Amino acid sequence: MTSKEIRQQFLDFFKSKNHKIVPSAPVVPYDDPTLLFTNAGMNQFKDVFLGKGERDYTRAANTQKCIRVSGKHNDLEEVGRDTYHHTFFEMLGNWSFGDYYKKEAIVWAWELLTAVWKLPKERLWATVYTTDDEAFELWKNETDINPSHILRFGEKDNFWEMGETGPCGPCSEIHINLSDDFDNPDYVNAGKEECIEIWNLVFIQYNRDENGKLHDLPKKHIDTGMGFERICAVLQNKSSNYDTDIFMPLIDAVSGISGIPYEKEEHKVAMRVISDHIRTLTFAIADGAVPGNEGRGYVLRRILRRAARYGRKLDLKEPFLFKLVDVVVNKAGGGMAEIFPEIKTNQTNIEKIIKAEEESFNVTLDRGIELFEQVAEKAKAEGKKIISGDDAFKLYDTYGFPVDLTKVMAEEIGFSVDEKRFEELMQQQKERARKSTKDKLSTINVITEDISNIEITTNEPTEFVGYDSLEAKGKIIGEKTVENKGLILLDKTPFYVEAGGQIDDLGNLIVSGEKLDVVDVTKLNNQVVHVVDNIKNIELFPGEEVIAKVDEKRRWAIMRNHSATHFLHAALRKILGTHVKQAGSYVGPDRLRFDFTHYKKLSEPEIKDIEALVNEKLLENIELIHHRNIPFEQAKKMGALMFFGDKYGDRVNVVQFGDFSLEFCGGTHVKNSSQIGLFKIVSESSIASGVRRIEAVTGEGVERFIWEQLDMLKTADEKISQLLDEKKKIEKQLAELKLKEKLGGINEVLQKPSEVKGVNVYKAKVEAGSMDELKSLGDELRNKMKTGVGVLISELNGKVGIVCVVSDDLIKGKNLSAGKIVGALSKTVGGGGGGRPHLATAGGKDVSKIDEALEISDEIVAKFL
Ligand code: ALA
Repeated sequence: MTSKEIRQQFLDFFKSKNHKIVPSAPVVPYDDPTLLFTNAGMNQFKDVFLGKGERDYTRAANTQKCIRVSGKHNDLEEVGRDTYHHTFFEMLGNWSFGDYYKKEAIVWAWELLTAVWKLPKERLWATVYTTDDEAFELWKNETDINPSHILRFGEKDNFWEMGETGPCGPCSEIHINLSDDFDNPDYVNAGKEECIEIWNLVFIQYNRDENGKLHDLPKKHIDTGMGFERICAVLQNKSSNYDTDIFMPLIDAVSGISGIPYEKEEHKVAMRVISDHIRTLTFAIADGAVPGNEGRGYVLRRILRRAARYGRKLDLKEPFLFKLVDVVVNKAGGGMAEIFPEIKTNQTNIEKIIKAEEESFNVTLDRGIELFEQVAEKAKAEGKKIISGDDAFKLYDTYGFPVDLTKVMAEEIGFSVDEKRFEELMQQQKERARKSTKDKLSTINVITEDISNIEITTNEPTEFVGYDSLEAKGKIIGEKTVENKGLILLDKTPFYVEAGGQIDDLGNLIVSGEKLDVVDVTKLNNQVVHVVDNIKNIELFPGEEVIAKVDEKRRWAIMRNHSATHFLHAALRKILGTHVKQAGSYVGPDRLRFDFTHYKKLSEPEIKDIEALVNEKLLENIELIHHRNIPFEQAKKMGALMFFGDKYGDRVNVVQFGDFSLEFCGGTHVKNSSQIGLFKIVSESSIASGVRRIEAVTGEGVERFIWEQLDMLKTADEKISQLLDEKKKIEKQLAELKLKEKLGGINEVLQKPSEVKGVNVYKAKVEAGSMDELKSLGDELRNKMKTGVGVLISELNGKVGIVCVVSDDLIKGKNLSAGKIVGALSKTVGGGGGGRPHLATAGGKDVSKIDEALEISDEIVAKFL
């Protein structure tokens, strides 16, 4: 039987028991801050169990994509070392919401396993919670399980909880013992590979609160989960999940890429880890998560690095993980994309992100390994077998080595890691980060506790009227004064509480005629808490009417930026491609920030095109169509874009601007695109491999931006004038200096005159910058020679310049004239000129004749004697 058939048989079985088959929720939870990743099939029904939400069915079944790498359910360490734990797996589940209870859950599970799938009854075991006599009796009386195979276990094994808080209850598990010793109760819950849990039936009846207290839920529910990969191994007669058709194509591919067979235990572990981790990465990235430095992103980065590290054990040094995405999509389990099409639609993007991340890791890995080896050497020399917490922290902080990677490397050489010290340093770092966050945030931190124990007069959610008005009358439904702050819950408010990247509204409340500044707003369950400053002696009364006013100017700026974000997103998808996915955003009054998946830096023309397209659309005066509170399914059918990190309940809001932009969005928006004014991108950068960030401004922000630019230009202009003046001054000084040097050069000319009929003739080719300079050189020569004729020729801007000087004694005694000499000389260089007897200049065109002119100057002087 193929895994595909097995999955289908499970769903068909529960369909025949009137269950609605529902889709898997994404592995990135929509709106549950207690969870980094979806870790069980029941997550998407948490609100139903808690009595806060409803569905139009009371029985459901599905296969749910799960990731267990953090929080309460974390199987990371086991993965690869054993054959049946995974970071990503499918959980087959069936649910009853206040409908059937323990009896049907047990009977149907037994029926599917033994009647449909014909598992050998003698190998099956059931466990129940120590005090759960009801479940014990049901197993005994309603099924034909061997009664000695019903065992009782304590809280650790038979009380299931989703996380530190949330729905929970006693459970009953079904285990299968595939060893020869299958009648031995000691195998159950003993961590043996031959005897594993395959199905967990949870009887949800409590909610655990933040203080660890259990509260009865309004109704009792069933929540079951069967490990799909495990049941496939059992039904395909394999002793390891990795031998099923779900994993074999991956193992084969890794073996093919590395050229190493799946034989030696060491290689097998590596191949299993890689095959497991690539599934997690593929599914998580498809659902919008991206490797990064924090939270969910950091978990993914660790997983990727762990897989890459194991790759090195197979001599895989170049990026290779990205090549396995295609195997997950098209081959593993008959092609996972058939069941989960999102991995196919996002395949290129997933591959690009993984490859970029692998490349950047390779660089740090090499450097980190070097450091690790040095550190280990040093420790060894000191007779220690421990990597200090400080070194582990340095590896983490500087080289991006997750501590579990350092641990793996340490274990390999028989070392351990001082994790206590490492944690201490991590804590200190977090503390530093926390301190540097804004004042406002720390105020909120101080009062979160106070907020959670306010007494309220109703459980009704606060009505949000802020889509249409920025001022409203509301009644106080809960209040508390903490120092000088007032915490006020209202039944109705125009104040928007941060969600989907759009930040909180600020403004004021008018209470008993006094205007109080709202410095923060937050949500307590579904009610809005307004935090007001300087409450002084004002008494607050439940039921009292107050006026809530949002700071209009600020809110309009926020709305402009929010709507512009939608235009930007649409433009990015048009210009860069539909692989662009929102990875995060910030929408404030001052600017907007949009993070999205894209694998390379945007070029300047791309940025210009994106900006131009947005502005073109804004000017088209496109009206907002706000679809409020429509069914989720309808929104999906309309083709609205969904964003990771946003809350999607059964009913959603969709924001539409003509046929250009259509998105799920709970935020507030302008009524018309032209109200945004102009849109200007101010920066583009990278925030993680495969994720780019654009920052932009709109409306007044653009005006501010232009003024800033103009101010900058003005300052630059002044600076340039100043520099030009300085330049002139320096040039002048330089010319003077140069001239001085050249004048000095005249001494050389004076060294070796030629003699023509008893007259000294001084002649030379010189370098002069201008005719004036040449004249100065002539003057200098005339002053320095006692008696004689001087001829200096220079190239002046591609032409010829000549100066001739004659000493006074020769003018008088020999009737020599510089003017005449220069006139005759200049003919040689194709020019003319003249002047007075003691100094004359001439120009010429033919620079090639300079030497000739110098040579014949003796002859010319002779002619005039
Ligand atoms: N929610 C139960 C589990 O995850 C079924 O085991």
